[in-house]
Amino acid sequence: MTSIATGLRIVRPDQNRPAAAIRLPAVLESIGNTPLLELKRIGGDLKPGVRLFAKAEHLNPGGSVKDRPALRMVLDGISSGQFSPDQTLIDATSGNTGIAYAMIGAAMGFPVELALPENASQERKDLLRSFGAELIVTDPLEGTDGAQRVVREIVAAKPNRYFYPDQYNNPGNWRAHFDGTGQEILDQTNGLVTHFVCALGTTGTFTGVTRRLKHEDQTITCIAVQPDSPIHAMEGVKHLDTAVRPGIFSPDLPDETVEIDSDASVAMARRLAREEGLLVGVSAGANVLAAYKVALQLESGTVVTILCDTGARYLSDSLSCRHDNRLPELKSASE
Ligand SMILES: Cc1ncc(COP(=O)(O)O)c(C=O)c1O
Repeated sequence: MTSIATGLRIVRPDQNRPAAAIRLPAVLESIGNTPLLELKRIGGDLKPGVRLFAKAEHLNPGGSVKDRPALRMVLDGISSGQFSPDQTLIDATSGNTGIAYAMIGAAMGFPVELALPENASQERKDLLRSFGAELIVTDPLEGTDGAQRVVREIVAAKPNRYFYPDQYNNPGNWRAHFDGTGQEILDQTNGLVTHFVCALGTTGTFTGVTRRLKHEDQTITCIAVQPDSPIHAMEGVKHLDTAVRPGIFSPDLPDETVEIDSDASVAMARRLAREEGLLVGVSAGANVLAAYKVALQLESGTVVTILCDTGARYLSDSLSCRHDNRLPELKSASE
């Protein structure tokens, strides 16, 4: 049996190869195969031959697109023998990969330690702890680059204690999207996708989906999205001109790169909640805004982007409603 989400062959217990037998808990079988949703209101003023779609990755069980690569890297580690049952999984993560590792660790029964910048949202830290992960909080000014440095130091001090998937340099990261997300986009659009638009973090989503789409049809245009400034509100996304470049990224892969402003991304995330009923995070707002701008230039075409994670993780900060006077007033029960 092959898991579509991870593209891995799931080997059932076999007397001759017990080490390779990976039986997935049901919650992990539900990763991937997310719906592809047409954004009819946001895309309401596009030309009649232009359609705007978003892949609802926030509906994965861990609430983000990162469930796919996290599971793939764990399964690759187990089947290659690099991740043995007495080891702890450790990695640097801005949050969502960590949540995925923590969920997978809880479901499969292995310990997880995660380094993340102190300014990651409180919801994310609470979620990680709820799944039983141990947190190593790093300097917020150094972002995920600082968290990666700290993890490398910890692993160098005790190499046998840890399995370090290193999502920034692990090909399993982009391959999960090549076999899963990219294939699903081709299937769900009946091969009609003409443009793919996606923000860059570890670059796994963009790299894997783009490689799969271009493998099918070189003329599909793949557009990378990044913040217009090194200081921005898009958790999980990098300003690649100033950040450490992930090893899995090939700079020649994007046909174009568009830069998006943080406030406009937050505004689009709010519109997605109110106009489409999709409570998604700020990077999803950036993706949809960039995809909409691409779609606006077209006479015909099918534009696909990614809703990277759930907006529930941002309600105490970027997507807080407390100071938003465009929201309906609260009414008291006695009125
Ligand atoms: C909310 C969010 N958006 C976008 C991304 C970027 O995805 P990728 O790492 O596949 O480039 C991430 C990565 O962690 C993320 O957490």
